[in-house]
Amino acid sequence: MLAPTRIPGFRFIHSPGPTRVPDEVMHAMQRPMMDLMDPRVADLIADCEAGMKRLLDGADSDVFFYAANGHGMWEAVAVNLMAPGKTLLVPGGGHFSDTWAQLIEVLEAAVSGSGVQRTPYREGHPIDAAAIEQALRDDREQRIAAVLAVHTDTASGITSDLAAVRRAIDAARHPALFVVDAVASAAAAPLAMRALGIDVVMGASQKGLMMPPGLGFAAVGARAMAWTQAHPGARFYWDWARRKSDQQYRKFCGTPPLAHLQGLRAALGLIEQEGLEEVHARHRRLAGAVQAALQCWAEAGALRAHCKVPAAQSASVTAIEVDAAQRERGVDPEAIRSMARERFQVAIAGGLGPLAGRVFRIGHLGDMNEATILGALAGVEAAMSTLLVPFGRGGLEAAIAHLAQARVGHA
Ligand SMILES: Cc1ncc(COP(=O)(O)O)c(C=O)c1O
Repeated sequence: MLAPTRIPGFRFIHSPGPTRVPDEVMHAMQRPMMDLMDPRVADLIADCEAGMKRLLDGADSDVFFYAANGHGMWEAVAVNLMAPGKTLLVPGGGHFSDTWAQLIEVLEAAVSGSGVQRTPYREGHPIDAAAIEQALRDDREQRIAAVLAVHTDTASGITSDLAAVRRAIDAARHPALFVVDAVASAAAAPLAMRALGIDVVMGASQKGLMMPPGLGFAAVGARAMAWTQAHPGARFYWDWARRKSDQQYRKFCGTPPLAHLQGLRAALGLIEQEGLEEVHARHRRLAGAVQAALQCWAEAGALRAHCKVPAAQSASVTAIEVDAAQRERGVDPEAIRSMARERFQVAIAGGLGPLAGRVFRIGHLGDMNEATILGALAGVEAAMSTLLVPFGRGGLEAAIAHLAQARVGHA
């Protein structure tokens, strides 16, 4: 047990979720409960639905909210789209697509002849759109019901090109639905449902939406809605067809999570106040500062960017790999992480799945700015210095130089 000592100032949270929650959102979540017939509840729900549609360019979609995390939303997508004899195609994109596919494999037993198919994953690379096209072309009987793409794989810090996935589906002339996991990209990177013909976007509250964990969402377009209505199955809480209703109680399959909805309305307001384009530009700018620092750190040979395709480096999180030889000499990503958090008050993330013990990750999404990102980078440098990790000097200066020359929309 860590001693409950007071932290003067505050601890920076630079994990890629949960992320920092702004005061406006915290305060909104503390508002008193309302009775469900209070017309303000209907307004609250309508505001959240409309705000999510604007955020996702999903004007034609139905937005469903769940008291759930990202795993819950994965299950919601799976049980609404799985059908006897039908397959879901999960393009390989790292730890999170792998876990989504595993979840479907567990559910398979309940739906006869259903299944999941994956495309190969190359470590350090985004989703291979050509492999999706090939899988769809090979699917002559059109068993594949949907392509389930993770936009940003939070474990590797890689963002895949959704337009390329769209082109692959079109090139194969396949009717598969296009479903996107936006858990780590919503409100951090551009994601346009209508423009890209995306049928479902699912996500969760604790990352770009700047909220505590616990609220999941699915924006469901007309084709996906028609699919789920035509393929009833053993689902109740997750069922989109059941939730498509004007009655609040039914829409939420029970009591709406009012505090989270209050928080979401406040968060969407903050995003709109800043302007969605500027929110995206800020994420790119801060990500660029981390990458500028990493380029310097990497010069000593012990650290490198895990992402091998610079254009696919995500705006949300950067995964930093420790060289195998250095790990054998005792350079431990988990030790860097603990030192940064406990001694220098900067919380970063570690490696997940096959990257456990190999990488540490700096989150740069949600409610952050130049000062917080520079503070995070300084904390990581301080942790590495304390642990005698060999890293190239000048990272902080490079990050400052990057930020100094960047254009800021509202400055
Ligand atoms: C891309 C992505 N999908 C899904 C999940 C699962 O979300 P949760 O941890 O809220 O269940 C995560 C979690 O980090 C994620 O990053």
